[in-house]
Amino acid sequence: MNITLSNGKVLPIEMHKVKIVQQTTLPSSSQRLTAIETAGYNTFLLRTREVFLDMLTDSGTNAMSDNQLAAMMQADDAYAGSESFFRLSEAVQEILGFQFTIPVHQGRAAEHLLAKTFVNHGDVVLMNYHFTTSKAMIDLAGARVLELFADDALEITSNNPFKGNIDLQKLDRTIREIGPERIPYIRMEATTNLIGGQPFSMENLRAVKAKATEFGIPLVFDGSLISEEAYFIQQREPEFAHASIREIILEMMQQVDIFYMSGRKSTMVRGGLIATNQKKFYDLILPWLPVYEGFATYGGMSTKEVEAMAVGMVEMTDQNIASSSADFIQYFVNRAVEEGIPVVTPAGGLACHVDAMQFLPHVPQSQYPAGALAAALYLVSGVRGMERGTVSTDRGADGQDALADMELVRLALPRRLYTLSHIEYTVDRLKWLFDHRDLIGGLKFVEEPPVLRFFFGRMKAIGNWGTDLVSAFQQDFGMDF
Ligand code: F0G
Repeated sequence: MNITLSNGKVLPIEMHKVKIVQQTTLPSSSQRLTAIETAGYNTFLLRTREVFLDMLTDSGTNAMSDNQLAAMMQADDAYAGSESFFRLSEAVQEILGFQFTIPVHQGRAAEHLLAKTFVNHGDVVLMNYHFTTSKAMIDLAGARVLELFADDALEITSNNPFKGNIDLQKLDRTIREIGPERIPYIRMEATTNLIGGQPFSMENLRAVKAKATEFGIPLVFDGSLISEEAYFIQQREPEFAHASIREIILEMMQQVDIFYMSGRKSTMVRGGLIATNQKKFYDLILPWLPVYEGFATYGGMSTKEVEAMAVGMVEMTDQNIASSSADFIQYFVNRAVEEGIPVVTPAGGLACHVDAMQFLPHVPQSQYPAGALAAALYLVSGVRGMERGTVSTDRGADGQDALADMELVRLALPRRLYTLSHIEYTVDRLKWLFDHRDLIGGLKFVEEPPVLRFFFGRMKAIGNWGTDLVSAFQQDFGMDF
């Protein structure tokens, strides 16, 4: 929730109390230099003890509620027929309005089952934007992804409240060109992760659904950040200014044939699910569930997480919970803009996204500016962000780097985890880095896996700039920070 102070300043305010805490430590800059070099300049390969503020992701790292933890204690561990599953299924019916629920161990497992069931060699899946795992599943099925975002969706500085929209003319043209029989589904991702957490509008979702229906193509909805998507629609789309999060979610789901989510984000548990009202889809997907995930009443999740997901599904519709992360991100983005740091606007879901192309104009895309910036920020702050650019895009079939549309460093804000002083600290170190950006150079791969290379790939600094950056930092802040 945002609150206005007597001086007119707007502050995001915590609508919860901190009841359990976990200590964190701030390793010194010399320790950070050793750590990032050992990690091959890849923030995924750092250990928690080497990290001060972990802004890698909001996936499975959110602070859970007392009610979620309490629900975990009543988990029914039955292999088949678990009561925990029925509680989740009831929550899905109540909040999303779907009769059939298929639990899976996390979001990509849902994507795997959908690709396995519906995607054939040579098919084309249309999307507002891809996510790394959703694209990988489709590539592995021998099909391809086509993104139909509007021309201005990739503009870093923008007033467009709905950069996650599908361009309707492109959609119509593409369906006619490809032929509906080769399009197994259209996928709409809530608050498109890779282009800065940008939402789509309800108007756009309705229009995409109408077009999909015209051609008999199912609409698949990736609702990993569904509560944030609903919050943005409420805040930005006049028709919904007075609607509740619950009403907006139900209205979105009216447009959806198959819903899936990573439960690790909006519902704040380590799980996922697929849901639908159409028995024919349920019957096609279900047989694969015990093969790849687990029996129909746990789907690879711990039953404790199934219980917590049932509670999280309801809690995510609370206005103060749906807005908890988005309002902090808005503050983070506003502060960064005030300091002249190039970030994606308008503020979206999930994270504050720093534009590495503007931050490091002297580092060519072939030398991975977003990877270099993520490593540099870690060096000067102990804050761990995630590269979302060319390192996160696998090479094309010709073995050449496929240059990403955007080079972003994502500073994720897990829900209810960090405080305003953590954000102020991060903005301060970003500002120091921006003033010293000429010291930062590029990266090159020394070890490169063939698929999703950003997870395990190792790089090194071109020209040893990590050491120079740390020396400059130590001159300003001493050896202890
Ligand atoms: N869809 C979206 C929009 C996601 O953001 C994610 C994961 C997935 C699907 C896959 O779900 O991780 O539970 O298997 N996003 C994480 C992130 C990994 O860091 O943004 P998963």
